[in-house]
This record gives sequence, structure tokens and C-alpha cells, in this order.
Amino acid sequence: MGLRRLALALSATALGVSACTSPGNIADAPVTTPSAAGAATPSPAASATGTATQATAGAPGIGDPDFPTDGNGGYDVARYRLKLDYDPGTEHLKGTAVLEARTLQSLSRFNLDLSGLKVESVAVNDRAARFTRSGTELTVIPATPLASGTDFTVRVAYSGTPEPIRDADDLGVYGFIRTSDGAFVTCEPNGAKTWFPGNDHPADKARFEFEITVPEGLVVLANGEQVGEPRTSGGKTTFVWREDHPMATYLATMTLGEFVLKEGKTPGGIRNLAATDPKFRRSLNKVYDLSAKITDYWSTVFGDYPFSSTGGVVDDFATGYALENQTKPMYGGFHPDEGIIAHELAHQWFGNSVSIKRWRDLWLNEGFATYAEWLWNEHTGKGTAEAAFNGYYQTEDDPMWAYPPGRARPGDLFNNSVYTRGAMTLHALRQRVGDPAFFKILRTWAEERKYGHGTTDDFVALAERLSGKELDSLFDVWLFQPERPADW
Ligand code: TRP
Ligand code: ZN
Repeated sequence: MGLRRLALALSATALGVSACTSPGNIADAPVTTPSAAGAATPSPAASATGTATQATAGAPGIGDPDFPTDGNGGYDVARYRLKLDYDPGTEHLKGTAVLEARTLQSLSRFNLDLSGLKVESVAVNDRAARFTRSGTELTVIPATPLASGTDFTVRVAYSGTPEPIRDADDLGVYGFIRTSDGAFVTCEPNGAKTWFPGNDHPADKARFEFEITVPEGLVVLANGEQVGEPRTSGGKTTFVWREDHPMATYLATMTLGEFVLKEGKTPGGIRNLAATDPKFRRSLNKVYDLSAKITDYWSTVFGDYPFSSTGGVVDDFATGYALENQTKPMYGGFHPDEGIIAHELAHQWFGNSVSIKRWRDLWLNEGFATYAEWLWNEHTGKGTAEAAFNGYYQTEDDPMWAYPPGRARPGDLFNNSVYTRGAMTLHALRQRVGDPAFFKILRTWAEERKYGHGTTDDFVALAERLSGKELDSLFDVWLFQPERPADW
């Protein structure tokens, strides 16, 4: 179901979540390998180069069976350096993206993901490279093949008017979204390609540097920390931001426009930045204060905050949803309440620091962040997680029972089950292992996999290791069966 439901679902009380239809059929999607699925890449031409070992083409997908052309195979990006100029008046973006990457195989050619925009030139290791485009696949053909296990750079010069992705059936509008005074940039699950070329899948995380120029008077909000003061000359201002922790592409942002800011530190000592469009000024202090309070509280529950700063951004584009952009959650056109702020900040641990490798594991993000809302209510005396669990469990005809949350589906990725039944799964675990083991499991998950990835199997193994209990059937009925669990 569409994301428009999310803001509603997130603030709904236990019994008030609206129903959505969801097919009962959970037959496994066929697992296709990326190379088999993507016929877009021409066959390798490496033999013509005379190299001893034949270089092959990188796959047009990173290997997510449900999103066969998302991301790309054959290399791993370490850092993106994005130097961009955007003018809201002309809606024109111009810039260069430099990717610092490492080959995972020898490469005669490889793909980047890019949606729309005009590619002016591509260079690999500072040598001009040929390129072709097909759909959102940009294929780069270096002048000479790249050897396996070596570092390389790709520089792409490009320009044009970014267009967001509009998915009327499921995901709504996402990516680079123009606003009346700038842009609101929220890219989950695969909209980073609307504004920069890259390996657009959370299985490949990288550090980011942003050097973004806009007309004087506007503010640019990207991830991580601002480097130096903005520099103004000739009626334009350049903002430099750096995110020095690995980040999934969908969490990158360059939201810009008119903003009022409040900056400082949380009582616990973490840098805190709140920003709102002037129309949402009355939320500025609230976003600042609650982000501080909640970040500090989650640090005591989940372990040290994994990033360098926290905060929140409210823009005047009415998406109706929020996104947990790394270090800077963004709220689209509404005054956020505590529940959604608690949710987006919990994602900094669950989703952002510990990331998924395949979209079907999305409950590891959304189930955890939803459970965090219940924990926040518990902490603030607004009702226990147990009461929330019981409230949902009583609703026998909820469509979430037909949708196993452990296998989020393409076409219905952000189904309420992934959120609510995912959260219920954690509560069932808590009931079974008790509070000390449960919270140790959450903290250990965040600590052991900090800045990396985790799968559902990894989580089940951790829960069994730390609790000493056999939990297969509990996770099976909660995550994988198309019916309301009866006993576990
Ligand atoms: N992850 C978001 C949340 O639950 C929801 C979301 C999914 C989203 N896709 C999005 C937000 C695209 C913005 C853009 O908080
Ligand atoms: Zn979420």
C-alpha cells in the first residue's frame, strides 16, 4: 500500500490502523540472478584487449532477487564526491559525481544507476571512457579493462532537470522532489539515481562528500557535518557537507530552500540541528528539543549514537511521510509528533547504521523503528508495548495476518505488516526471552553490526545465541506464515 498511509499509521493507536487489502498468496518470488535478469548489458569485449585473463561485464544489478536491476555488480563504492549546482528558478542541476570504488572482479565494463539527466562525459581513472544508457542503467566502458581487487575512480559530468520517481501503485513520489523554494530529497528505496549516478542499493554503503551551490539566500541540508562556513560569491552560495560514516544511497539528501535553523548540542553532547521551512517555524523548537531528548534516550537503550549529529528537518512539501535520512530525518509537510520523531531517530541505529542487504528484510528497519515508538510510549508513560501488542493481536481480521513481514514484497514493500507485525515479532521475542536478554539482543545487534549490514537469519542467530533459546518456530510463525500466529 502507498506511503501516504504511513504518517497516519505511525500515529494511529493500537486499534485504529486502517486496513489495506493484501493478497494471501505468499508464493516465493522466483530468484533470478542479476546477470540472468539484466539483459541490458552487452557481452564483454575484453578478449579484444589482449589481456591474459578475460575481463567480464559487471552485472546490471547487485543481486537483490526482488529488485534485479537495482544497484550493480562487480565493484564496491567507498566514497561519493558530489559537486553540484542547483537553481530552483530554472530547475537546472549541473555537476560532477566522482566515485571512489574498488573492483570485485575484473571489469570490461560496469553499470551505474541514473534516472533521466544528461551525461556529458565519463572518465575512469582520469581517462575518458565510453558510455551507453538504457533505462536507468548507465554502462561505462573504460578505455582498458580494470583488474580485480583494484581501486579506481569514475567521474561523471552531468546536467538536467531532476525528476522524482512517481510510483502511483505503491511508493508514491520519491527522489529529488522540487518544492516552491528548492527541493525535498527523500530517496527510499531507489530514488538516489534521480540526482546522482551510483550504486543505488543499500548493499553498497559508502561515505559521502557534498559541495552544493545554490542561489544566495537559500540553505542546503545534506548528511553529516557542514565543513567550514558557506562561501558566497557572485550571487551564489556553496555549502560543503560530509558524512564520514558509511551510508546507503537512499539516505543521502540535498534538501534545499528557505529554512530557519536551530543548532546546538543535546544534553548528552551530540550535535543537534533542527531546520524548518518558515511555514513550519512553530515546530522548530519542538523538533530540536524532542530530537535531542529522544536521541539521548535511545543512546541509553540501543547503545551509543552511531553518527556525529542528530536533528530533524521539516519542509513544506506535503509528502505525508518522513524519511530517516542519515543524521537528518526529514518530515514532509507536517508538524511531526513524538511518535514519528522516535521512529525516525531509532532508524539511525536500525536501518542506517545496521543496514539491510535485500529489501525483503525491511522489517529489520521498519519493525524495529515501530517497536521503538512503543518503547517511547512506555518510557513516557503513555502505554506499554504489551498493550500495543495486545491491541493489534486482538484484531483477527487485519490484512497484516495474510502478509508475512519477514518477506517484504516488491510492489507492496512498505505494507503495514512490515511495520506493525514486524514490531509485534520483537515483542513476541521480548516476552519469550525476558527484558534483560531482549535489550541485550537489540544493543548487541546495533554494536556488532555498526556501519555494516545484517540479515534476518543473522538476527535470529544472535537472538538464539544471547538467549540460549531455540527460537526458530517463534520467528517462523511471526515472520513467515501467512496467518495470525496462534502459538509460538
Ligand atoms: N522509511 C520511511 C519511514 O518509515 C518511509 C518511506 C518509505 C519513505 N519510502 C519512502 C519516506 C520514500 C520517504 C521517501 O519512516
Ligand atoms: Zn520507518
